[in-house]
Amino acid sequence: MVIFGATGDLTKRLVMPALYNLVRTRVLPENFALIGVGRTDETAEGWRDYLYGELKHFVGNAASESDLDRIDERAWKRLADRMYYVRGDVTKPDLYEELRGVLEHAEAEHQTGGNVIFYLALADRLFGTVVELLGRAELTDQKEDRHGVRRFWRRVVIEKPFGHDLASARELNTHILRTLQEDQIFRIDHFLGKDPVQSIMAFRFANGLFEPIWNRDRIDHVQITVAETVGVEQRGEFYEVTGALRDMVPNHVFSLLSMVAMEPPVGFDAASIRNKKAEVFAAMPAIKPSAAVRGQYGSGTVLGKTVKAYRQEPEIAANSDVETYVAMQIEIDNWRWAGVPFYVRTGKHMSQRKTEIAICFKQAPYAAFLDTPVDTLRPNWLVLDIQPNEGISLQFEVKRRGPVVDLAAVRMDFRYADWFPKERNVGYETLLYDVMTGDLTLFMRADMVEQAWRIVQPIIDDWGAGKADVPVYRSGTDGPKAADELIRRDGPRAWRPVGLPSEEAR
Ligand code: BG6
Repeated sequence: MVIFGATGDLTKRLVMPALYNLVRTRVLPENFALIGVGRTDETAEGWRDYLYGELKHFVGNAASESDLDRIDERAWKRLADRMYYVRGDVTKPDLYEELRGVLEHAEAEHQTGGNVIFYLALADRLFGTVVELLGRAELTDQKEDRHGVRRFWRRVVIEKPFGHDLASARELNTHILRTLQEDQIFRIDHFLGKDPVQSIMAFRFANGLFEPIWNRDRIDHVQITVAETVGVEQRGEFYEVTGALRDMVPNHVFSLLSMVAMEPPVGFDAASIRNKKAEVFAAMPAIKPSAAVRGQYGSGTVLGKTVKAYRQEPEIAANSDVETYVAMQIEIDNWRWAGVPFYVRTGKHMSQRKTEIAICFKQAPYAAFLDTPVDTLRPNWLVLDIQPNEGISLQFEVKRRGPVVDLAAVRMDFRYADWFPKERNVGYETLLYDVMTGDLTLFMRADMVEQAWRIVQPIIDDWGAGKADVPVYRSGTDGPKAADELIRRDGPRAWRPVGLPSEEAR
């Protein structure tokens, strides 16, 4: 595996801890080598030491603090003994000649058999160039014998953002597809590495109970929330040209949405699943600017801490109109979902960190035994909690104890933590494993990425035109008022409170 961006943030935060965990759990084979490519003047030894120092901060989700600090030295050594470093400028063809030499050397030392993953942990403007130069140096060529049987493979992992809008995503696809076959490209979305996200399909398609009611007959609407408490932190430069819409919606939020909305696949292979997800995108009309709301955080208090307004953050323009919050209403024009709105929202500096998919079922049609009118009954909610309190809950009405008929909304609750021991993983392990085994299921295909940009393009155009001021919401709240109006427009609906744990949000 070759990591471009070897001394960057992503490598130390996610890629290396995930590789280390794969070594530790003996998933990674002995015949493995890791080559770091970076601009920093580093030796292989220096690179190893640097990453070793960082590892304990990022190795993730250990059961206790002391576990977290403890590195399995033998596992680390198994990995460290296989690490090489190449210094250079990724835009210069010479680098790729040098890389070829190191690859051949590593291959001979560790019998890797010629299979190579090129991991592009780089600024997105470099993706096209790097793929082109890899191709020119013939490093992406896959070898087949005379019967067409593949002797070794070459794969490329590309991080988000994949393009900046529809036109640039198309251009990037065209550019890289001149060098690569579609099945060599792994467009990675780290949300899909989260177990509760992968479990959405298991929940829907491994149970007979839910699928018959998973449609417009029984579902009133769906809410997808990705609320964060963090602000832009040190990423001002990136965020000023990105904003919440591009950063979160066509990738993370749409991945969640497609898993909730897709038809059952005929098989669990990549082609079957990706086809069904792609059909969801194809059925989504482009979102009208009138169905979207944006906001930017002002100062406020988040989790008890006073925080600055977005415009006061480092590297942010004092008059920036970049959004840090977005909410929108999405339609899916097919038989299953026609008339069922999907409301999605994501924002920074909100009251709580919470990612959830909440499905609101239609109310009982008639309340025979009550004096109260039927519309005072609370709807059933099925909530898929993605993070941080991973689980699934179902809310329904029961009669309280006692002689009077008095209803209460109660909840059946499944929490991952109650059933499965916590694992030390950072969420990239499954995705890297899938790249190694060539399983494309969890990765975006070219057409899916382009569809996703098509859907949000009218909003990008509208907001980019700078016609209106971006409304400011106070940090530590659940977003701008306009978002409440958006969800109320077509019926008596309201966002589920972010601030309450999902089990208490009725
Ligand atoms: C990243 C975005 O892709 O996802 C960040 O660039 C965001 O802005 C992050 O904070 C959220 O991921 P997670 O896994 O922390 O919920």
